[in-house]
Amino acid sequence: MIALGADHGGYEIKEAVKKYLEENGIEYKDFGTYSTDSVDYPRYAYPVAKAVSSKECELGILCCGTGIGISIAANKVKGIRAAVCTNEFCAEMTRRHNDANILCMGGRVIDSEMAVKLADIFLHTEFEGDRHINRLALIEKIENGEEI
Ligand code: RB5
Repeated sequence: MIALGADHGGYEIKEAVKKYLEENGIEYKDFGTYSTDSVDYPRYAYPVAKAVSSKECELGILCCGTGIGISIAANKVKGIRAAVCTNEFCAEMTRRHNDANILCMGGRVIDSEMAVKLADIFLHTEFEGDRHINRLALIEKIENGEEI
């Protein structure tokens, strides 16, 4: 199950990703927003991040104008590794090296075609593990307020 969310700036690319998920038989839960009316992106980042951190959803996709604000908000939830991606290389590497669990994209930065391409790469790329496991453990320590 994929958790989806967006503000008004990301609504259009979120809908394009939703269509791609439907066409490919990938289950999703859409946490809104449901129109281009102006809204506050943390209100959409939060339920998506909670759904991913609780394992209700395996991965999440969040969209706002730049992808930045919604990623900052999502990354405040424990266990979330939300990554803003604007190209194919980053979408692949953030899964392989960072085990990112939320892809963030900007509707004022990339078009719907690129958003679908990045979502497809993100959802079909595995974490490499290996030397990256220790790096994620260090991030977790920082998250827990420990010294590293
Ligand atoms: C909304 O205008 C815009 O600030 C938001 O979508 C996002 O780009 C924030 O980072």
